[in-house]
Amino acid sequence: MQKAKTWVKRIGILTAGGDCPGLNVVIRAVTKAALHSYNIEVIGFRDGYDGLVRNNFMTLENRDVSGILTLGGTILGTSNTADPYRYAVKKDGSVVIKNMSSEAISNYRRHNLDALIVIGGDGTLTVASKLIKDGLNIVGVPKTIDNDLSETQFTFGFESAVVTATEAIDKLHSTAQSHHRVMIVELMGRYAGWIALYAGVAGGGDVILIPEIPYDISKVCAKLVERHRHGKRFSIVVVAEGARPKGGKLTVSRIVKNSPEKIRLGGVANRLAEDIEKMANLETRATILGHVQRGGTPTPFDRNLATLFGSKALELVIDKKFGFMAALKDGHMTAASIKKAIAKLKLVPADHPLLLAARDMNISFGDVI
Ligand code: F6P
Repeated sequence: MQKAKTWVKRIGILTAGGDCPGLNVVIRAVTKAALHSYNIEVIGFRDGYDGLVRNNFMTLENRDVSGILTLGGTILGTSNTADPYRYAVKKDGSVVIKNMSSEAISNYRRHNLDALIVIGGDGTLTVASKLIKDGLNIVGVPKTIDNDLSETQFTFGFESAVVTATEAIDKLHSTAQSHHRVMIVELMGRYAGWIALYAGVAGGGDVILIPEIPYDISKVCAKLVERHRHGKRFSIVVVAEGARPKGGKLTVSRIVKNSPEKIRLGGVANRLAEDIEKMANLETRATILGHVQRGGTPTPFDRNLATLFGSKALELVIDKKFGFMAALKDGHMTAASIKKAIAKLKLVPADHPLLLAARDMNISFGDVI
């Protein structure tokens, strides 16, 4: 087949922020289409923005992206701490924060790149928007298991995480049933409860606690006791890591000093388990699913979404739509402004159809019994 004519000769690509299933699918889609249809060379920077700052790269050929469709993680590596504008450098045995954006920019120029495709969530795209201001031609691809990036209906990685979480809830069901226990499962979702809502409903959770709806522990306990009274001898509580009690605080597990997003959450399930045993007098166990949700092979939906995102990103480069990212709106691929996407998080709205359906079915969100 004859190659299509385009002004683009060479592009860069990187994956940054937390990994998720489907990153390799985007790298594959971009590289295969660039080489096959347009004769565009593709340079992959390793470990997110770290590779751009340190000029750590690989030229991506067909053989590099062959056989990676089903592979979790990213063949390029990633980093959720490397930010060229606040880059941690070791000096005299201690770490100092330096602005290394000029190194990142000169590496982009050194490779004669016509554009850079950046695959990431809101932290990654916030850095991208600064680099755009500083003159780089950047197009984004939206990624996060949390699904909290605005301007796109779904990010890839989310559905795969929901499948993993739902399988875990299914497994907890049988042991909850055998032992007549309350089983709490803590899922990822820092500020948005998309994973907890989708997996909670799909997995038949009885109580779903999300960051958007602060919970009242007495209502949670009343709901569990009520179920017990009605002869339901076990209950499943699905909680997002970012859920917190009304007027209470987030459960922080650690602080990662040099990360753009310093706070790491985790442990709210243990706190809930203690409260439930004390207040409702029901035997309770907590499971924190953690990074399992970020691993494994992408679902077919995520593979197709990531393929469409990759293909759209390349089209945006060719059309010179810099400062935009591929996005899914009303079931269609489109371009969305990166600036708008990072302006505010996409939270679960109070009138989300799945949330309303769940409420109608007597599933508690911890605000009413
Ligand atoms: O944003 C994605 C996410 O998986 C969050 O849900 C979670 O809180 C965070 O990343 C964990 O980050 P880390 O991999 O640095 O522990």
